[in-house]
Amino acid sequence: MTERLILGQTLSLDADPRLTGPEAVHHERHGAVLIRDGRIAEVGPAPELRARHPALPVDDHGAALIVPGFVDAHAHYPQTAIIASWGKRLIDWLNTYTFPEEARFSDPAYAREVAGRYLDLLLVNGTTTVCSYCTIHPASVDAIFEAAEARGMRVLAGKTCMDRETAPPFLRDTAQSAYDDSLALLRRWHGRGRLSYVITPRFSPTSTVAQLDALGSLWAEHPDCLMQTHISEQTDEIAWAKSLYPEARDYLDTYETYGLLGRNGLYGHAIHLEPREIDRLAEVGAALVHCPTSNTFIGSGLFDMGLRARLRVGLATDTGGGSSFSMLRTMAAAYEVAQLRGTALHPSELLWLATGASAEALGLQGHIGRIAPGCEADLTVLDLASTPAIAQATERAGDIWEALFPTIMMGDDRAVTQTYVAGKPMKTA
Ligand code: GUN
Ligand code: ZN
Repeated sequence: MTERLILGQTLSLDADPRLTGPEAVHHERHGAVLIRDGRIAEVGPAPELRARHPALPVDDHGAALIVPGFVDAHAHYPQTAIIASWGKRLIDWLNTYTFPEEARFSDPAYAREVAGRYLDLLLVNGTTTVCSYCTIHPASVDAIFEAAEARGMRVLAGKTCMDRETAPPFLRDTAQSAYDDSLALLRRWHGRGRLSYVITPRFSPTSTVAQLDALGSLWAEHPDCLMQTHISEQTDEIAWAKSLYPEARDYLDTYETYGLLGRNGLYGHAIHLEPREIDRLAEVGAALVHCPTSNTFIGSGLFDMGLRARLRVGLATDTGGGSSFSMLRTMAAAYEVAQLRGTALHPSELLWLATGASAEALGLQGHIGRIAPGCEADLTVLDLASTPAIAQATERAGDIWEALFPTIMMGDDRAVTQTYVAGKPMKTA
């Protein structure tokens, strides 16, 4: 048995702060987290836990803030190197930057190198779980899962499937190979340690009906897996999807018809949904993923946070369409996008989006996203005065939310002083 006490200010939410009272907010100015064998065993005031466990090794983070490790609910790790590529909207961006880079993942050594680099970038940014697309190459899936396993991280990922002539010939599989390769990867990785396989049709414009149908069958045979895809990100893309599926009632129908709509479905972007689509997504209890830095960077639009009244909504970077690996930057963008739609998201809502809400979108509530007994010990430690600009703004804070908000709006990897994965500190001095 390995045990350790982590000391600092602790802050965690039990549930969506819009729906719960102050009793769901747990803030200790002098708090402690007892970690036992990679899980959180106890949480409470530091003097009490120290008195109960006087002999344990201690990591003392002083006034720094310990929050649940950030959960990035939608990303493309193979796009790590093309982040911040200039001047294109979605379809041109895919053709100009994304597809040529994803082609490089036919080389397993390159895939391994980027997968390791990517997960290390996440850890320095305080992100402990990601749900990532890979490329069409099965070795790209092996690469991210091997890198996650080596670091002990909870990671979800899947082989991106594309078999239509709209995708370049060097990045196409077939309906049958997509089914076979996805099944083999699912059998190899799903449920192994902290890893989960995600069935991953990229989006309906790059799949044939036969491929969507094959992946719908695979999902029906493995309903405990998540299925991730994109929907209604840009108006040009929606028109394109409708032209390729003229018989479909709307974009969502291109998934629904082939068995790709369900509670374990994760639909990225979802900016320009029609009323019928929202009703159907809500009826089945699907989850949406808000990718605010991507939606502004690629020029897609402003996600409607009001959808949280009816659907689970997670938060994500969508790198490399998103312009940052940091969930702090992503929370800031979510705040700004909501402001443009007339709503000010409270810092507690922003923190919840990046932790518990994303965990719930991934069906991982009870495992990650909270600092609570029984949860896995994925923790992020934030210096709330990491730059002079943040320090001077935080100085006059009257409560923990005012103290955290400048770091949400202006913070980056410099604010993350430590990241624990299953209780193990991942940053060495
Ligand atoms: N739609 C289909 N593929 C992608 C992708 O790689 N990134 C984004 N942002 N949208 C997509
Ligand atoms: Zn995406």
